[in-house]
Amino acid sequence: MTTRPHRPRPDDDIQSTNDPFVDWVREATPYIHAHRGRTFVIAFGGEAVVDARFPELVHDIALLHGLGIRLVLVHGARPQIEQRLQGQGVELRYVNGLRVTDDRALACVKEAAGMVRVEIEALLSLGLANSPMAGVRIPVVSGNFVTARPLGVIDGVDYAHTGAVRRVDHRSLRLLLDQGMVALMPPLGYSPTGEVFNLSAADVARSAAVALGADKLIFLTESAESQQGARLAPNLLAREVDALLAGTQMLPDEIATCLRAGAEACRHGIRRVHLVERGEHGALLRELFTHDGHGTLISAEPYEDLRPARIDDVTGILELLRPMEERGVLVRRSRERLETEIDCFHIAERDGLVTACAALYPYPHDDMAELACLAVHQDYRGGRRGERLLEHIEGLTRARGIGRLFVLTTQTAHWFQERGFQPSGLEALPMEKRALYNFQRNSKVFIKTLPDCRSLPKSP
Ligand SMILES: CC(C)(COP(=O)(O)OP(=O)(O)OC[C@H]1O[C@@H](n2cnc3c(N)ncnc32)[C@H](O)[C@@H]1OP(=O)(O)O)[C@@H](O)C(=O)NCCC(=O)NCCS
Repeated sequence: MTTRPHRPRPDDDIQSTNDPFVDWVREATPYIHAHRGRTFVIAFGGEAVVDARFPELVHDIALLHGLGIRLVLVHGARPQIEQRLQGQGVELRYVNGLRVTDDRALACVKEAAGMVRVEIEALLSLGLANSPMAGVRIPVVSGNFVTARPLGVIDGVDYAHTGAVRRVDHRSLRLLLDQGMVALMPPLGYSPTGEVFNLSAADVARSAAVALGADKLIFLTESAESQQGARLAPNLLAREVDALLAGTQMLPDEIATCLRAGAEACRHGIRRVHLVERGEHGALLRELFTHDGHGTLISAEPYEDLRPARIDDVTGILELLRPMEERGVLVRRSRERLETEIDCFHIAERDGLVTACAALYPYPHDDMAELACLAVHQDYRGGRRGERLLEHIEGLTRARGIGRLFVLTTQTAHWFQERGFQPSGLEALPMEKRALYNFQRNSKVFIKTLPDCRSLPKSP
């Protein structure tokens, strides 16, 4: 099981009551507030619909609706299509990973999409007194929101009725969502010539999310592992997704398709794309309402590359740190000390300006490392650089096999607490560090236990 290292913990001041139910509700409350009124596009394959536990997933989706989340559901229908074709003694044809939809296949696609739609609508209409949907009324709407074009002829292969999304009618969708409806989108699109096209659900989901400016795009996947059995990392940048797709790890087609669509969505402004393994009990709820999350989060590129500092960065780092040292936020460091410790520093740089830095001092005998001197240039604050640098330092710490990161701070306690650090006493620090503690400065100690995660290799 992987946990997400950086997921902000909205309220670490919550005291445990030893009542798991009360604790859980309280832990979830900040997320409930944060998600209300947001638009989520949730995509799942036709496999989810044939699963005996599909009603549970629909109940969870109904709960999201009940909590005021604006929902667009995008479903696939592959097993249903394949089953129909097999019934006729034919198979769906793939060329270079793309399916070819001939007339017979298109008829099956239409039938399958219609059937899946009815199943989902029926489950969302359930209102029996003894079910989690008791008394709930969820209006569901489906329609010709997607305009599609044919894929055409590629390398001499005519893909016939297989299409690609051309545009999504986000205005109509938005009006319906405003009225509290759940939009249900099949993997189908229509062309101005009146034709119907078979689309990939991931393409529909990505296009709908981008057109709507959705707050989240969530892919419920069948698996989260490469064919070598490695799990996806809990956090990936769009650029890291590209490297992963171009790399040697064999990823199941479904995962590769979702990763590709997710990275693409990020590049078009979707801030958070989640890949959540559908089969894990309550995975969607855990992903959305707990601080650990369970899936993989793809986010947009950082603004600058992070890299180890070099000796010629010392002047830039000093310029960055000076104003914070003068205000007493950071401990003053001399040029000599910085030069000696430069190998511990990591920086973000933009056009020759050091925009952020942090230092990592390992204490391997104590299974601890210190994060120090985390600083973001005044003009570049609030853009997640601090968080990104923290994630980077956490990754470096884990890569050294060290499980705990500590920080001493006077004015930034909450920032660290919101990112999973717990207040601690001096006695928890490595002996060497304790001996150097400046009682006059009276810094507070915070420690974060880093999750151990077996992840796919990230790009350098
Ligand atoms: C703390 C710091 C590194 C954050 O960098 P950043 O790139 O702006 O951080 P992020 O974009 O990831 O996070 C911004 C959030 O942190 C909050 N934040 C900034 N400083 C904070 C502080 N001292 N305490 C609590 N929260 C703080 C912001 O209000 C913002 O929250 P919001 O999104 O809810 O408005 C940066 O403010 C900084 O350099 N501070 C001075 C140096 C320092 O205190 N370093 C830590 C000591 S080791």
